[in-house]
Amino acid sequence: TSNQMWGGRFAAGPDAIMEAINASIGFDKRLAAQDIAGSRAHAAMLAATGIISDSDAEAMREGLLTVLSEIEEGRFEFSTALEDIHMNVEARLKEVVGEPAGRLHTGRSRNDQVATDFKLWVRDQLDAAEAGLLSLIRALLVQAEAGADWVMPGFTHLQTAQPVTWGHHMMAYVEMFGRDLGRVRDARERMNECPLGAAALAGTSFPIDREMTAKALGFDRPAANSLDAVSDRDFALEFLGAASICAMHLSRFAEELVIWSSAQFRFVALSDRFSTGSSIMPQKKNPDAAELIRAKVGRIFGANVALMMVMKGLPLAYSKDMQEDKEQVFDAADNLMLALAAMDGMVRDMVPQRAALEAAAGAGFSTATDLADWLVRVLGMPFREAHHVTGSLVAMAERKGCDLPELSLEEMQSVHGEIDASVYDVLGVHNSVASRMSYGGTAPEQVRAQIARWKEILE
Ligand code: ARG
Repeated sequence: TSNQMWGGRFAAGPDAIMEAINASIGFDKRLAAQDIAGSRAHAAMLAATGIISDSDAEAMREGLLTVLSEIEEGRFEFSTALEDIHMNVEARLKEVVGEPAGRLHTGRSRNDQVATDFKLWVRDQLDAAEAGLLSLIRALLVQAEAGADWVMPGFTHLQTAQPVTWGHHMMAYVEMFGRDLGRVRDARERMNECPLGAAALAGTSFPIDREMTAKALGFDRPAANSLDAVSDRDFALEFLGAASICAMHLSRFAEELVIWSSAQFRFVALSDRFSTGSSIMPQKKNPDAAELIRAKVGRIFGANVALMMVMKGLPLAYSKDMQEDKEQVFDAADNLMLALAAMDGMVRDMVPQRAALEAAAGAGFSTATDLADWLVRVLGMPFREAHHVTGSLVAMAERKGCDLPELSLEEMQSVHGEIDASVYDVLGVHNSVASRMSYGGTAPEQVRAQIARWKEILE
């Protein structure tokens, strides 16, 4: 015949170029398990509703399991002429069980079939992302707890701002990945409606039971509008959106690890397991994993933009444009999971350098704000004036090439006569962080409270 799938209508087969642009089997073979799960649910429902006989359904069930094991064991021959995973599985089912295979597509279309398969696949990825995020958050909590009161510089503009604690910095990422976790769970809940039974676009005249197939496939309910069910790729876009934001967070952390592991900072030692050497420079230990994590946001966000562009302006219902959804999502999912796992490993292995962190914490006049606050609190100075006085003291220290605590009391008093020796208490970095007791502040007590809150959340 001219075409194994729709030879009835067609006299000629497709041009080779047509086959090349049209076939999706090269990538949608990744949906094989989901496709077979969907078909099994559909077949069981067709029998339960009396649309097909029990013996046909039983033959389909057996046959589909055979096809599944052939695919899983790498014994399946995928055919480009059969376009996609759906036709490949059905054609093989025909070879395995014969005539009953021809009844499987009753009350179904590849449009609801592919939407169902892809949703099942994306749902698994949301679950995998959730697991990856939970593991990473736990790793960060371990780091935060170990160094809850270790001081380090906090930055704005990558210039020393105020001292913070290592635990506080780790917990900032816990908050970020915690929101990613929320987005992933939220997307999963919203997407969990089953397209199967929407058929091509209008529903079907067969007395199908969509509740039954939805339930069998772990969906909360059938999708309520058949046109929408086959046209919707929001679930893939929400995954890509959540993945993009998560990858952006990963890239910011990765960038900090790159900076922190440099010889100029030495804030952390990265493990050999997540670093590489140089083929020419013997001293090198490069943070390649962090750099690659930093880069992954590019392709993940690219996938997000690409699928948005594919979907924009598409009229209802299905258009073949939508076949372009899969490669973007596959690539983004693979790379998100890899980036999460790599970050997880780096965080578990990395050793923060307490002494270097502490030495850096006091550099760059990091307690200047504490000094200004002291002038307000103890001398009753308006903050703007205190800011000015402190600025003069910083300028003096800078001229002398020393840090603020190294200025003598006389030198301080030359700028403002009422300053007394108790000012030195607030110039130390430990006092500085301990004083930041406002809710969510960097004081070790606050950091430990947040660690405890997260542990409770994760229980
Ligand atoms: N391979 C197709 C896709 O991925 C399956 C759906 C085909 N439907 C159609 N009407 N041609 O979108």
